[in-house]
Amino acid sequence: MKYRLLGKTGWSVSEIGFGGWALGGQWGGQDEADSVAALDAAIDRGVNFIDTAQGYGEGRSERVIAKVLPGRRDQVFVATKTPPAPGPWPPSPYCKAEERYPESYLRANVEERLSNLQTDCLDLLQLHTWTRAWNRDPAPLEILARLREEGKLKRIGISTPEQDQNAAVELMRRGLIDTVQVIYNLFEQEPAAELLPVARETNTGVIVRVVFDEGALTGKYKAGHRFPENDFRSRYFAGDRLERTVGRVEQIRRDVAEAGLGDTHTLADVAIKFALADPAVSTVITGIRNADQARLNAAACDKPDLPGPLLATLRRHNWLRGVWYSGK
Ligand SMILES: NC(=O)c1ccc[n+]([C@@H]2O[C@H](COP(=O)([O-])OP(=O)(O)OC[C@H]3O[C@@H](n4cnc5c(N)ncnc54)[C@H](OP(=O)(O)O)[C@@H]3O)[C@@H](O)[C@H]2O)c1
Repeated sequence: MKYRLLGKTGWSVSEIGFGGWALGGQWGGQDEADSVAALDAAIDRGVNFIDTAQGYGEGRSERVIAKVLPGRRDQVFVATKTPPAPGPWPPSPYCKAEERYPESYLRANVEERLSNLQTDCLDLLQLHTWTRAWNRDPAPLEILARLREEGKLKRIGISTPEQDQNAAVELMRRGLIDTVQVIYNLFEQEPAAELLPVARETNTGVIVRVVFDEGALTGKYKAGHRFPENDFRSRYFAGDRLERTVGRVEQIRRDVAEAGLGDTHTLADVAIKFALADPAVSTVITGIRNADQARLNAAACDKPDLPGPLLATLRRHNWLRGVWYSGK
């Protein structure tokens, strides 16, 4: 495993992090024994950064992570997220910060995160989403700063709203957040234009999410695949979306083979290495559901870096397709 600094936190975090969404059960059935084995395998291979959220099964992901922490609390950093109080997701431009992240709500929510993770201080609390409508008066971040002073949390982050990831850029420039969590992958390369350069200028830690485009960029899904109804991907890849995605993934596979990496790198390795090629990136939180995926993803960081000409070819796979999370 290799490690990088997480911006101004000064923490040395593993290039491969653990994304804990599927542990919450919204990706179809998820056996708790598989989740524990996945976490154990990842930590044993040097993964020291785990991402979770209240929203991943109403705390189920946090609670299973808490089970593997005893005896390892000093070995791993755990980042969790607080969602806004009920209302539109993503927050509409007309939402008021004081209604979606009021102080009493944030305080109670942080206590629930502490309880689920069985700790008295969170390493990193991220607001799960944001709108640039709140940039002029980012009061929720001031409330979190007070909670930090009170010893409830160590660091503050934002997870970008997927429809407007650059909404976080102003917060980074004003030094209001320690970390930013962003979608950056072979299809979603827009962060390379502004967010990643600003992260370097401002020493903001960058946590990359969805590096496999919800699994598709591993190359294992075929066009006719049907996700179970209780897997959110049955909506994310609704209609002809999976078919269109698979066509593009197959072109990436051909590009990788032509570059001579077909035998050394899986498509998952290539997806991970593509994100890590930008030095602004601190960690890539690959979604992991079992011990095999933990082993494979942890091993990816020790594969050779992608050569410059292949990186240049892969940049052409940037895909301006809009936002798919609300389904088709
Ligand atoms: N802030 C937010 O709003 C937000 C949104 C999304 C994600 N996240 C965070 O980012 C993390 C990563 O994103 P993600 O989990 O949504 O998606 P992802 O990393 O793009 O895809 C993860 C999925 O790919 C498959 N996979 C993983 N490793 C593999 C391998 N080596 N070979 C083959 N298949 C593999 C697994 O699913 P299958 O085996 O079922 O295919 C896994 O659940 C999340 O877990 C979460 O922590 C945050």
